[in-house]
Amino acid sequence: MNILIIGATGLFGSRLCELLAHEGNTIFAMTRDPKVARELTSFDVTGVVGDLDDPESLRAPMQVADSVFLASPMHANLGEREADAIRMAEECGVEHIVKVYGSVRHDGDELDDQHQIAIKALHESDLYWTLVSPQSVMETALLPQADSIRHLGQMFGSAGDGKVGFVSADDCALAASIILNSDPELMDGRNIAITGPEALTFDEVAERLSAEIGRDIQYTDLTEEEFRALLVDFGLPAEDLELQILCHFRSIREGGADLVTNTFEWLTGRSPMTISEWFHGHRRTFEVGETALELASVGEG
Ligand SMILES: NC(=O)c1ccc[n+]([C@@H]2O[C@H](COP(=O)([O-])OP(=O)(O)OC[C@H]3O[C@@H](n4cnc5c(N)ncnc54)[C@H](OP(=O)(O)O)[C@@H]3O)[C@@H](O)[C@H]2O)c1
Repeated sequence: MNILIIGATGLFGSRLCELLAHEGNTIFAMTRDPKVARELTSFDVTGVVGDLDDPESLRAPMQVADSVFLASPMHANLGEREADAIRMAEECGVEHIVKVYGSVRHDGDELDDQHQIAIKALHESDLYWTLVSPQSVMETALLPQADSIRHLGQMFGSAGDGKVGFVSADDCALAASIILNSDPELMDGRNIAITGPEALTFDEVAERLSAEIGRDIQYTDLTEEEFRALLVDFGLPAEDLELQILCHFRSIREGGADLVTNTFEWLTGRSPMTISEWFHGHRRTFEVGETALELASVGEG
């Protein structure tokens, strides 16, 4: 099967390319950068150049694709970008489109408004379509905390005691690969929520990490305004904070991220990765290196 991966260099798309290529599919991996497209090209993968902001650039790769995986960044134009891609897929005779949505409840916020524009385009199309909906992903939620964990022994957020059914990016990509290789008719119109095996508060996440690395890690809960100020101090662009970070913590705080499903097990026949297993695999990322130990001893002196 010919599969076009939009977002092939991203969190989900990069993992998916590898999985699908090993399953004997012909993969077209899309990026905006011609140099990256050449680097992506291998025996089973052809790098292609395309830009969601220029829908005509999607025509050639879509004309050879049976199925399309559609992931695009959490951006104020997500809806328009993806709706244009969906219309182009229909025009080019694509059979099945698998779009990344999400299973954290964002009802009525800007991110969900954007996704709904794309979902409306799917409903209006004649395509077979499936939504794959990850819960909050461990890589996205926890890797940005690595510096403060190593240097301060602290995680920060504004999640309150909201629980999160954290899932690993590898599990999401595996689920998407199975959906893409399934009969499109059976998958049509489904919203498949992929979650981890349990929902945890950030305090509980800090406890699991402490147990894994043998060091006391605390979670410090802030108000949204305090958290926003901290992120700006860390150098994050203020205009990206709402869609990429704050709306997610707000949903968690309001109880919108506690979903745990058995769909990963249903699709794959095995249990999703636990947060302790994920920390074990990323142990070195969170452990104190020599530089941090030196800094800590200077601070103590
Ligand atoms: N992370 C989470 O916790 C989570 C959870 C649930 C749902 N989601 C959903 O996942 C989606 C994001 O997926 P992701 O995290 O895999 O994305 P990502 O890592 O942010 O990757 C962005 C990808 O999009 C490509 N891209 C950026 N602008 C583009 C444009 N104008 N045209 C074409 N491609 C463009 C980039 O390719 P190049 O730069 O190479 O061109 C890159 O491959 C969003 O819909 C989000 O709501 C995320």
